[in-house]
Amino acid sequence: MYFNFVKEQSEVAKMKIGFVGAGRVGSTIAFTCLQQLDVEEIALVDIMENLAIGEAMDLAHAAAGLGKYPEIVGGSDYSILEGSDIVVVTAGSARKPGMSRLDLAMKNAGIIKDVARKIMESSPESKILVITNPVDLMTYVMWKESGKSRNEVFGMGNMLDSMRLKRTLHELGVKNINKAWILGEHGDSMFISRTLIDAENVPELEKVLSEVRFVAAEVIKRKGATFYGPAIAAYRMINAVLNNTKEEMPASVILKGEFGFSDVSVGVPAIIGKNGVEKIVEYPLDPQDMENLRNSVKLLKERLKELGY
Ligand code: 2OP
Repeated sequence: MYFNFVKEQSEVAKMKIGFVGAGRVGSTIAFTCLQQLDVEEIALVDIMENLAIGEAMDLAHAAAGLGKYPEIVGGSDYSILEGSDIVVVTAGSARKPGMSRLDLAMKNAGIIKDVARKIMESSPESKILVITNPVDLMTYVMWKESGKSRNEVFGMGNMLDSMRLKRTLHELGVKNINKAWILGEHGDSMFISRTLIDAENVPELEKVLSEVRFVAAEVIKRKGATFYGPAIAAYRMINAVLNNTKEEMPASVILKGEFGFSDVSVGVPAIIGKNGVEKIVEYPLDPQDMENLRNSVKLLKERLKELGY
């Protein structure tokens, strides 16, 4: 069952974005993409069918106000994802009070396994952008469970962390911020790359990092969730795929020997284009960056083991 707004048949290749998860993060990403991109189809899947249909309706009305009439469907049946260029996965629980990180990882890994199987049944050619937290672990689970090649599955985390870093630097009066990247785990072990920072008069990085690292928790404490930041970060990655921009950005990607690590998904510089991860950019990292990356990888691998991988 799904709600179908405009049904049109066309032989021409369409730009289609699928979503699994139509909650605040998923729907805000869809809203952003609708405004910023020439999307021809949006399909929103959620276990809460009415939510998915309602979001599809609301988005379709918004689009009409911009003079756009894409096909926008919502429902609980994954078949509506068929033919998506990219599927954006936000399905899963947010961390509840009293829930440990591992509890959350366990719970969401179960969800991601199911989602991976259903995406492969309904739209096996799609690139998959994972947003569900803990994103590095969930990206790995999605990659493993979908059986897709590693360029086709990647996660959004450090892109958002890097946006927060830029804002923090701006507030500290830093000028000409050409580049300011956070790498590593999208979590407590994230770090500001000393190699990939290009700005004037950068203050002591440890102090800046402690501000950036906990700022999401501050937003969550105040408004219950983050979604505008994640939406723009996700849009940037979706745009890179759909318009084949080959932009370089930090993304959670499966490593196979890059930087000396394998069999883990972690935030490193990557070129994103129509094939998903076109390239992992192995900058010769500053020794401190390497040490920090090693630490993130070690922690993530320990948690993957706890999840049974
Ligand atoms: C964020 O960093 C919670 O991962 C989410 O906003």
